[in-house]
Amino acid sequence: MNIVITGSIAFDYLMSFPGNFIEHVKPDKIGKLSLSFLVDSMTRQYGGCAPNIAFNLALLGERPVVMATAGQDFGDYRAWLEAHGVDTSGVKIVPEVFTASFFVNTDQQQNQIATFYAGAMAHAHELSFHDLGRPVDLTIVSPNDPAAMVKYPAECKALGIPYLYDPSQQIVRMHGAVLREGVQGADILIVNDYEFELLKDATGMSESDIRAAVTRAVIITRGEAGSTLWAGGDEIAVPVVPPQQVLDPTGVGDAYRAGLIKGLALGLPWRLCGQIGALAATYVLETPGPQTHTYTLAEFVARYKEAFGEDEFTNRI
Ligand SMILES: Nc1ncnc2c1ncn2[C@@H]1O[C@H](COP(=O)(O)OP(=O)(O)OP(=O)(O)O)[C@@H](O)[C@H]1O
Ligand SMILES: [Mg+2]
Repeated sequence: MNIVITGSIAFDYLMSFPGNFIEHVKPDKIGKLSLSFLVDSMTRQYGGCAPNIAFNLALLGERPVVMATAGQDFGDYRAWLEAHGVDTSGVKIVPEVFTASFFVNTDQQQNQIATFYAGAMAHAHELSFHDLGRPVDLTIVSPNDPAAMVKYPAECKALGIPYLYDPSQQIVRMHGAVLREGVQGADILIVNDYEFELLKDATGMSESDIRAAVTRAVIITRGEAGSTLWAGGDEIAVPVVPPQQVLDPTGVGDAYRAGLIKGLALGLPWRLCGQIGALAATYVLETPGPQTHTYTLAEFVARYKEAFGEDEFTNRI
């Protein structure tokens, strides 16, 4: 199956400040803010929705193509993704800028000061499914440059490519009419429970309007309460796979999407697709960052069997 993953590509720069930001903010001097924090640690992690999803799909034995934009600093990230089985031939480099970067400084009280630099991501709307030059069986429109998130669903509809619509954290940046266009005719809609409320407000659509507008399934993830899949008139509740430890939730949602897509690629029933998503997400929770975990497909299936028992998925692999 030819799977194309669209979405942001980003570096996450995570810093920790060994103090308390609030002690350094002088309320009487707030008219002119000039602060610098000396941090004692920084890590740079590979992130962004498209590579996060693609990395997990590659662990699950697929070879997805990433269609996205990155900057002049993408070299080592590309090598990492290729080494892990991701096809980066659909990544366009914008040499004048850097890859989108998320800078976040966290203090001892868990207060955060963050900055998101869009960089090359702002060029994602320049890419087109018409230029991909390959057949596409399934794609996902994940958080990205808002203009790209308008263009890709329209192109998919024109070309007859089934798409998962995943507006998620960009819902707040998009107009209701545009979101309605994305929902209408999507093969699958996937958002978390909070985002589903935002989506209903922004589009003015009710739950039943949304379910009627989406072709195959509406999927709502609910953090540690699991996920709900509405498909073909059924409501399927999928529980979580209990993690051995919770280290860092960054990237859980993306991993769930990868597991779901793996199930779709195998043509499995919805419940099994959700269960594969839930286990893929648990692996991410147990490790720092969205792409530091690893498993073989055999290990994944063994753990899946422990959690859910034998089924069509475990028999097929
Ligand atoms: N604490 C948890 N324990 C076990 N599984 C979890 C936990 N949190 C999330 N998951 C799994 O990950 C899935 C997606 O989680 P969630 O609904 O939090 O996504 P999200 O809000 O989109 O996350 P993200 O921060 O990545 O955007 C859940 O449906 C569940 O299967
Ligand atoms: Mg999310």
